[in-house]
Amino acid sequence: MKKGLFITFEGIDGCGKTTQIELLKESLEEKGYTVLLTREPGAKGLGEKLREILLNYDGEVSSNCESFLFLADRAQHIDTIIKPAIDKGVIVLCDRHTDSTVAYQGYGRQLDLEQIYQLNKIATNGIIPDITFILDIDIDTSLQRIGKGRDRMENSGREFFERVRKGYIEISEKEPQRVKLLQGNSPIKDIQNKISDYVQGLL
Ligand code: TYD
Repeated sequence: MKKGLFITFEGIDGCGKTTQIELLKESLEEKGYTVLLTREPGAKGLGEKLREILLNYDGEVSSNCESFLFLADRAQHIDTIIKPAIDKGVIVLCDRHTDSTVAYQGYGRQLDLEQIYQLNKIATNGIIPDITFILDIDIDTSLQRIGKGRDRMENSGREFFERVRKGYIEISEKEPQRVKLLQGNSPIKDIQNKISDYVQGLL
């Protein structure tokens, strides 16, 4: 049976990835592909409960605990949603995945990067996206787009987001084959065309 594709979207908060995922979904469906749009944290079921804790719990959360919760969400997501869909030949579009943990918990919270890579490998059972798009924007644009109603992660401060952004740039340099860094402040149509060209190359 033909296997599907696994495509992930990444970037700091407010980078515009949600818009791009929806545009890609529409264009793939128009061409007749079956597409599943999903997200981390917080796909269906248990993921929704974990998302609630991760984004809204207002007591103390240690950085290690935070990582394990994101990883727990990922393990459940891969096993119960992503892998079954890929096996059925579906194109899976995922809003955030392993690179978020590297960027946010590794670079942002400054946890051991090697450990994060190892833990990601365990959580995903070794499943790696076929391609990953990172939309890069500057911190001022990000903070402006987030606005005032911030969740727990968005309240982590400017320096945190500077480190996360740097993390994403380094990830794209380390894995240029899989990870494509795009300018998130370019016109929506230009970003959409670039993404579409890359994806077309994989179909
Ligand atoms: P969400 O509202 O989905 O943000 P966005 O719309 O920007 O994707 O919230 C997800 C938040 O969780 C976001 O701030 C990034 C963070 N996050 C991590 O810190 N580590 C992770 O592994 C994942 C998946 C997300």
